[in-house]
Amino acid sequence: MDRRREGIGDLYHQETKYRREAMPQGGLDWAHQPSPYKELAYALKHFPLRPLLQKGGMSLWEAVAQRRSVREFSNQSITFSELSQLIWSTQGITLRAWGYEFRASPSAGALYPIETYLVVNRVEEIPVGLYHYNVKEAQLTLLKEGHYGHSLCQAGLGQEMLEEAACDFVWTAIVERSKWKYRERAYRYIYMDVGHIGQTLYLAATALNLGCCTVGAFFDEEVDRIIGVDGKDEISVYLGAVGHPQ
Ligand SMILES: Cc1cc2nc3c(=O)[nH]c(=O)nc-3n(C[C@H](O)[C@H](O)[C@H](O)COP(=O)(O)O)c2cc1C
Repeated sequence: MDRRREGIGDLYHQETKYRREAMPQGGLDWAHQPSPYKELAYALKHFPLRPLLQKGGMSLWEAVAQRRSVREFSNQSITFSELSQLIWSTQGITLRAWGYEFRASPSAGALYPIETYLVVNRVEEIPVGLYHYNVKEAQLTLLKEGHYGHSLCQAGLGQEMLEEAACDFVWTAIVERSKWKYRERAYRYIYMDVGHIGQTLYLAATALNLGCCTVGAFFDEEVDRIIGVDGKDEISVYLGAVGHPQ
C-alpha cells in the first residue's frame, strides 16, 4: 500500500507493530514507574463502597445470554449497593500478591492505566454529582455536587441515555502508566483494557437486572472538561450508562 495514502490510524497501526527484528531494547526504568493510583488534591466527601457480593446471583451464562445494550432508562434510582457492585466488578482489587494489586478486569502488564469517574444522576444515599473512584481505598470521592448528566449528554453527541441513566461511568486513561513500558504501542493496550472494563460493566449490570450501554461517540475535549482532565496526560476514552431499563 502507498504509505502516503494512509491515514494516521493506518500509520499508527503499522508503526506500533512488534517485529522480531526491531523489538524495543533496554530494560524498564523501575525507579520511575508511575503509580497505578491517582491521588487527588481535593475531595468534598468520601463514600466507602458497600459490602460486596462475591457469590450467588445470576449465573455467568445467564448474564452472557441476556446482555444487550439498553438505551432507555426509567427514572427509578439505583441503590448505592448496586453501584458499589458495579464499580467493584469493573475495577475492584481482587488479589494482592507478588507486589501487585490485581483488579477485577485484566490490564496489560498489570499497569492499570484506566481511571473511573462517575456522573451520578440518581443513586440512593449519595448526592447528585461528579465522583472519582479511589481504587486503593475502595471509596468514591465526591469532586463536585450538581447535575452533570445534561452536559455529558451534550458532550456525548446528544445521546439522551447519558442524561436519563441513573449513573454514567466515564473512563479515562493516564497514558504514562502504560507508555512507561509499552511506549507508543501503549494506546493499543489502553483501548483493550477499557474494552474489558466495558464488558465487565455490561455483565455486572445484567446480573443486577439493570440496563447498560457503553458509548464511544463523544466530543473528547468536552468530556475532558466536564471531569477536569487535561486530554493529554489523562484522556477520556469510553463511557457507560447504567440504570433501570424502561
Ligand atoms: C466500542 C463501543 C462503542 C459504542 N458506542 C456506542 C455509542 O456511542 N452509542 C450507542 O448507542 N451504542 C454504542 N455502543 C453499543 C453498540 O452499538 C452495541 O454493542 C451494538 O449495537 C451491539 O448490540 P448489543 O450490545 O446489544 O449486543 C458501543 C459499543 C462498543 C463496543
